Amino acid sequence: MKTIKIGILGLGTVGTGVVRMLEGEKDLIASRLGAELEVAKVADLDIDTDRGLTLPKDRFTTDANAVIDDPDIDIIVELIGGETFAKSCFERAIEKGKHIVTANKALIASHGNELFRMAAEKEVDIAFEASVAGCIPIIKTIRETLAGNTISSLAGIMNGTCNYILTRITQEGVGFEEVLKQAQEIGFAEADPTLDIEGIDTAHKLAILNSLAYGMKINLDDIYVEGITKVTLEDIRFAEEFGYRIKLLAIGKRTNGAVEARVHPTMIPMDNLFASVNHSVNAVNVHGHATEDVFLVGQGAGMMPTASAVVSDLVDISRNLINQAGQRVPYLSFQSDRISDLSVLPMEEVTTRYYVRFTAKDKPGVLSQISGILGQYNISIRSVHQKDGGDEGCVPLVMLTSMAREKDMQSAISDIEALEIILGKATLIRIEE
Ligand code: HSE
Repeated sequence: MKTIKIGILGLGTVGTGVVRMLEGEKDLIASRLGAELEVAKVADLDIDTDRGLTLPKDRFTTDANAVIDDPDIDIIVELIGGETFAKSCFERAIEKGKHIVTANKALIASHGNELFRMAAEKEVDIAFEASVAGCIPIIKTIRETLAGNTISSLAGIMNGTCNYILTRITQEGVGFEEVLKQAQEIGFAEADPTLDIEGIDTAHKLAILNSLAYGMKINLDDIYVEGITKVTLEDIRFAEEFGYRIKLLAIGKRTNGAVEARVHPTMIPMDNLFASVNHSVNAVNVHGHATEDVFLVGQGAGMMPTASAVVSDLVDISRNLINQAGQRVPYLSFQSDRISDLSVLPMEEVTTRYYVRFTAKDKPGVLSQISGILGQYNISIRSVHQKDGGDEGCVPLVMLTSMAREKDMQSAISDIEALEIILGKATLIRIEE
């Protein structure tokens, strides 16, 4: 039986899981693939920690180049993370004609256009299923399963850390910092958790999916990104009273010849499937013209779920190698000369519904002043909720609007915040049905 040799860069949580799966499921994988996948070399700065792996000691090195340059190695698995060193390893591997599997969403989102161009010149395969939503096969689904569909929208809960934090706050009322610490201890938060809680990790994933779904260049810079750090228990409870849950949603939608690309806390109805996706679980919905909604759900992070996606890419590339069918599926789902200049719709032009909470003085006429300003911007109010008993004569005033344009909503809010009867900043959360 043919043996395909694998070199692994980075032996953190996912790298360890990949080696474990390739060792533990060797026979199963060989019987599906018709070839053996052998871990020939592994590089990590720490090769002394016992990770419970049975690989012989002489396969470990601290030198990534020793793995990339090894002429016997067919496929490099890049699990270093980050953009700088990982990028130079990527470039070196492409230069050497090595196929690459990666889980590195930051690298693909920021440098994918350039790396895929280089890879095409060298006829090198690059696979990145593990970069988006852990074990969920969303990249394969868009690139292959939905190949005959015009995709009109996609949405996802694609950050396990944020979903875990929001779930624990919602269900147990625990504090943000405490739950974030637990997410880090469990191991699904990024080394720099700001990437998770500020929505940047989700934006990386959305940039990749938008490109695959709409045939556009990967565009990270134009995505509107707002994280979960300003979501309060008070807003979560108000949302419940209106029949909504708050989730960090990534939204990629075809609108007016452009693509909406936004990541922000979003209120969704309790009976929407996304509302019951809890803890570190991820979910993605893609709407194809023929399929209608395709909703995928599964573990979005963690050792073995992410390793599963990496191994599936290894099997795919190995099948290409065995059948001499390199680049069988285009990296970004469309042929490179058919990738368009489709742009991202500026956030000010996005239209949606809003939840807005003001802290107002408890005086007659407050509501009419606020609704007057909203009316000037053509924004209608769907419901209003006023709670008694705020601090020192102040009350929280919560409103849900009908569809409104972001630009109008932002202008109305700043006019309202300037009123003498309003204290502090308003809280704005977008609503998706
Ligand atoms: N930090 C990421 C998350 C890991 O929490 O989802 C998976 O990309």
